[in-house]
Amino acid sequence: MIYITTPIYYPNAEPHIGTAYTTIVADTLTRYYRLRGEEVFFLTGTDENSLKVDKAAKREGISTKQYVDQIVERFKEYWEKLDIKYDDFIRTTEERHRRTVQYVFKYMMERGYIYRSHYEGWYCVHCETFWPKSKVGTEHRCPNPECGRELQWVGEENYFFKLSEFADKLLETYEANPDMIFPESRYNEVVSFIKHGLEDQCVSRSSVQWGIPIPDDPTHVVYVWFDALLNYISAIGYPYDMDRFRKYWPADLHLIGKDILRFHAVIWPAMLMALNLPLPRKIVAHGWLVSGGQKISKSRGGFQLTLKDLLQRFPADAIRYYLLREGSFGQDLEVSPEGFIERYNRELANDWGNLVSRVISMGHKYFKGMISKSEDKIKADFVRVKARYDNAIQEYRFSVAVQEILDIVYQLNAMVERERPWELNRAGKRSQLETLLWNLLEGIRLTAGLAYPIMPTSSKIILKQLGLNFDEGDYRTLRELTSVNWSPQTYTLAQKVIVFPRYQP
Ligand code: MSP
Repeated sequence: MIYITTPIYYPNAEPHIGTAYTTIVADTLTRYYRLRGEEVFFLTGTDENSLKVDKAAKREGISTKQYVDQIVERFKEYWEKLDIKYDDFIRTTEERHRRTVQYVFKYMMERGYIYRSHYEGWYCVHCETFWPKSKVGTEHRCPNPECGRELQWVGEENYFFKLSEFADKLLETYEANPDMIFPESRYNEVVSFIKHGLEDQCVSRSSVQWGIPIPDDPTHVVYVWFDALLNYISAIGYPYDMDRFRKYWPADLHLIGKDILRFHAVIWPAMLMALNLPLPRKIVAHGWLVSGGQKISKSRGGFQLTLKDLLQRFPADAIRYYLLREGSFGQDLEVSPEGFIERYNRELANDWGNLVSRVISMGHKYFKGMISKSEDKIKADFVRVKARYDNAIQEYRFSVAVQEILDIVYQLNAMVERERPWELNRAGKRSQLETLLWNLLEGIRLTAGLAYPIMPTSSKIILKQLGLNFDEGDYRTLRELTSVNWSPQTYTLAQKVIVFPRYQP
């Protein structure tokens, strides 16, 4: 069982291309492992007990619950449009989550991991972060260089989590398991952060109405990050359904953006240690999507093409493709509408789409759509490519994985140019022509298999044209149809469909 999570997103605005990015990566990995025959549980959701969500609702003049209900629907809609098939969607306003948070809070209070004390400092509602006085200048603005917003002064009786107590144990764990955090630069960042010493973490807010009340003290609510991180275990039943919980926990992969690394790699494991639970196997932090060097976010709206605009113009698969194909996973990714269109037209519409389209056309024209099994000329090469592709995906080098697929596409296109099927046809060399088409179809079939996790719909459309059908979710059939150890006796081609229509602005 492989358990994969995304962050739970703040529903203070519609999902955007940044939040889609993490979710697309999670979906791709889920599909990849399923295609290999693994059982996968993929969790995503929304982080609703946030003050900025409450503020957004107030701006709209509706109740916070009503507001989040609306936005959550938008998230679900977008994920559906992007072909994201999660197994569960956790909302932190759900009772199943609330009772876990309250249980954990009480459990930690009883064992002394949470204690009451006075807190004085600054709070950034946008970043949902407490900032000690020492980090804040005279202007009282958020020290996060991405933010810089005005801070709120907090001087209140509060609850603290004994984070400082876990510093040594965290260091020991990370030193013994350097693979727990990817990429290595993020691992180093976390280790050095812990080495500088950890302070206890304030885990409550008073004079706030929106949030999960602290058990036996309704004057406080649980600090939103303490609440949010627990989604990874509340969704799978902790502590109320321990059989279910043990089936999934520990998570194999927490996928996050680099902005929330410390919460996941410092606070979260310490909370799990306090609960005496095993730690997640891996935390993978990707870089930001940036435009002109600036992080793209819902509040700044830097990308000119919004998810909505993109989905109006392109198939969802083109968005999935672009985000995984661009840059180097783990690093920041410069994205632009021009870059998007260029990749789409060149790689998807021209190289890939044309290959499929002309091979299917020739199959119909020269053989009435029936191409019989012939001598194999490509599988040995394909086996080598597949091994490189597998390595790449398992090491989160998605752009390399895509290039491996593109290399096959280029090879197949070169084969057409070199062997000139139209001339073979004119010269009446039927058997040579059939062998050529057979191998091209085999190549297309195998690349569709590799492409499936990244571009599930296009892969399905391509296979359908080859006369190979499977139902959504029927991974066993899909695996057989795209296996290198199998071939159909005869390809019975279906009608040609343009998979990636060329985009003309
Ligand atoms: N609610 C918290 C997470 C709690 S997890 C227990 C949160 N939410 S968020 O809505 O702000 O989403 C942050 C995440 O969205 C990032 O970690 C990243 O996964 C994704 N991204 C948001 N903007 C992004 C970019 N511009 N680029 C890449 N990913 C970005 O933080």
